[in-house]
Amino acid sequence: MISKEDADTLKQLSAEDGLKFISEKFSEGVVFSTSLGQEDQVITDIIFSNQLPIKVFTLDTGRLFYEHYDLLSKNNSRYKIKTEVYFPDASDVEKYVNEKGINAFYHSVENRKECCFIRKVKPLNRALENAKVWITGLRSEQSENRENMPVLEWDEHRNLYKYNPLIHWTYQDVLDYLEEQNVQDLPLHKKGFISVGCQPCTRAIEPGENPRAGRWWWENSHKECGLHTH
Ligand code: ADX
Ligand code: SF4
Repeated sequence: MISKEDADTLKQLSAEDGLKFISEKFSEGVVFSTSLGQEDQVITDIIFSNQLPIKVFTLDTGRLFYEHYDLLSKNNSRYKIKTEVYFPDASDVEKYVNEKGINAFYHSVENRKECCFIRKVKPLNRALENAKVWITGLRSEQSENRENMPVLEWDEHRNLYKYNPLIHWTYQDVLDYLEEQNVQDLPLHKKGFISVGCQPCTRAIEPGENPRAGRWWWENSHKECGLHTH
């Protein structure tokens, strides 16, 4: 359990000190989900450089960019600690693709959400089994949905704490960290892809567009895949 005092302390700490604090509080059960985006590369660097006892995992939807696999492989070489990879259930994917179509997510929001559920949410739930604290790279600047998210919250649905160490970081803070620590990121970011998800569901954004405008760009939905909403 995290006492109110500990929670208040955590809110005051830097991301690095907060991650250390959390991993000392819980001897096991602290996990971090990385999408290999820029925020997540910052957190990965802090965890691996300090050898914190935190399991780092990614969800391979089977529809990622080539660049994701390349960066994952580079991370494994640089830090000498492996990021665990979770895959969707093969029979779920086969059923969906054979019944609805390989790119059925373009046809309706319902189809898109079902694809995200099969390829992301279900594997995430498996990765979070027995976890006590789930660390993410969410930032409040990213969207309206995320504006009021706290540094630490109790996720009733999943029965764990969710810790967002970068929630108050600006995009510039993220870029500065990557440069100062010489941390590699996806080459896609320099080509206008700011928020990067699966390849068929992400496009580059134009200057001035919202960073998440390139995600599921053909929809007028809230542009969330279900990882961070219930
Ligand atoms: S999403 O909900 O729109 O897909 P976003 O790409 O903004 O999420 O990433 C926010 C956080 O969700 C990341 O910092 C990471 O913790 C988690 N996340 C998103 N995609 C993945 C993925 N493929 N694997 C693991 N974690 C992910
Ligand atoms: Fe499927 Fe697109 Fe969701 Fe990836 S982002 S899981 S391809 S709908």
